[in-house]
Amino acid sequence: MGEVWLDKIITKVNQEKKEYAKKSAFDTLILPSKIVSRKTEVEQIVRYLLGYKDGHVVPLVSIFGRSGTGKSTLVKFVCKYIPEVKLCFVNLRKAKTVFGGANLILNALDQPSLKSAQGMNQAMETIQREILNSFNQKTKLFVLVLDEFDVLFYDKRGNPSDFVYKLVEMQTELKEKGYLSMIFTISNNVLSDYELDDRIRSRIGNSEIFFSPYSKEDTLKILRLRAKDAFQKEIDDKVLEHCANLSFLEHGDARRAVDLLRVASEIASQEKKEINKSHVDLASEKIQKDRIHDVLKTLSYHSKVACLVLAKKTFGLEKDWHSTSSLYEKYMPLTNTKSVSYRRFSELLKDLENTGLLESHTGSKGQKGYSTEFKLVVQPEIVGPALFEEWWNENVVKKKKDWDLPSKSGKVPKTTPMYGLYMKMIDDQKKYW
Ligand SMILES: Nc1ncnc2c1ncn2[C@@H]1O[C@H](COP(=O)(O)OP(=O)(O)O)[C@@H](O)[C@H]1O
Ligand SMILES: [Mg+2]
Repeated sequence: MGEVWLDKIITKVNQEKKEYAKKSAFDTLILPSKIVSRKTEVEQIVRYLLGYKDGHVVPLVSIFGRSGTGKSTLVKFVCKYIPEVKLCFVNLRKAKTVFGGANLILNALDQPSLKSAQGMNQAMETIQREILNSFNQKTKLFVLVLDEFDVLFYDKRGNPSDFVYKLVEMQTELKEKGYLSMIFTISNNVLSDYELDDRIRSRIGNSEIFFSPYSKEDTLKILRLRAKDAFQKEIDDKVLEHCANLSFLEHGDARRAVDLLRVASEIASQEKKEINKSHVDLASEKIQKDRIHDVLKTLSYHSKVACLVLAKKTFGLEKDWHSTSSLYEKYMPLTNTKSVSYRRFSELLKDLENTGLLESHTGSKGQKGYSTEFKLVVQPEIVGPALFEEWWNENVVKKKKDWDLPSKSGKVPKTTPMYGLYMKMIDDQKKYW
C-alpha cells in the first residue's frame, strides 16, 4: 500500500530539486570550478611555492584577511593545481586544544589520533615520519596549511607558540634529509598579532599575503560562476546583483554572497516561483537570524546575561553605546547565581566582541577616566528573545509599551500639567533601564 501523503511530499521535494543542476556547487567547502580575479594573491602564493626550484623555501607564510575573502579556497586551489606540491590541509577550528591541532594534522596524514598522555613529542615524531612517507617521485614540496590558525591561541593552557616552533624545527630536520616543506597559516589577523615568542619570530621572518575584501564586481563574478554551476536555468542578473550588493554591505564577504543566493533559491523553490529580489531580502533576514542564534547558543550563562543587559538598555533607552560600569550595575542583580567580578565582566564583554555580536570603543572621560563602551551590532529585538524569551517579553517589551510616553527625550515644556510628576516618571524609567 502506498502512502499517498508521503508520495506527495516526495514529489514536491523532487520538484524543488529539479531546479538545481548541481546543488553541491553551493557548498562553500567544495572548491569552485574556476577562480575569479585574485591574480596578485595567486602570483604571490605561486612564487612562494616555486621557491623549491632554487632549493630554498621560506618556512612559514602568513595569509590573512577578513572571512569570506577567498583565503582557504585560493590556497587549496593553487596547491592542488601544482603537481609537485603535496598538500596537507588542516582546519584548526575543529581542534579545541593545541594537542588536538597536532591530532588533526595526524588525521590529515591518515593516522589515528594520539592520546594526550602520549605527549607532544611522540605526536611530532609521527607527523615527521608521515610527512616523509608522503613524498613520492613527483613530490618536490610538502605544504602544511593551518587554516583558522587563530583558534590555536584560544587554548590558554596549551603552548601554541611552542607548537609552531616544533613544526618549524621539524622543517629544518626534513630539509637536512633533503625534503622541502612549507607552512601556510591562514587567519583573520597578521601573524605578529599572535603571542609567538621571539625565538620563533626570528626563525620565520615575516612573509605575508593579504587578502583584501572583494569589490562588488568581484562578488558578482563569483556569484555568476556559482549560479552557472548550480542551476539548470539562467538566473536573472538583477537577482545576483542584489546578492552582491547586500553582501558588499557586509564587508565584501563572498561566503555570505554565496549563502545568500543559496537560501534565496531555496525560499523561491518552496514558493514554486522564479527567484527574485524579494527572496534575496527574505534570505538575508533569515541568515542574520540564524547566525545570531548560533552564536548566542554557544555562550556561557554569564555572557548571555551580559548580552541581555546590553540588549535591554539599547532597546529601552534607544541609545547604542553603554559603558562597562553601567552594564555591570544592571548585570549584578540579574544573575541567578553568584555574579562574576567587574574585571571578569569586562573580559566577557571583550570576548563577546570577538564573536561579532558587540563592538567597543573607548568612551569619553567619566569619573574614573576613560572607560570602554559597548554597542550591540545586531538588533536587540533579535538578541533579547533569542536569549530569554519570557523574561524579555515581560521585563522589556511590556515595560517599554506601558511607559511609552509622548516625549521620550524628556524635553517637556515646564508648563505641562503635572510637570514634576512627569519628570519623575522619566527619571524612574532611566533608572530602570
Ligand atoms: N576568487 C574566487 N573565485 C571563486 N570563488 C570564490 C573566490 N573567492 C571565494 N570564493 C568562494 O567564496 C566562498 C568563501 O571563500 P573562502 O575561501 O572560504 O573564504 P575565507 O577562507 O577567506 O573565509 C567559498 O564558497 C569560495 O568558493
Ligand atoms: Mg577560510
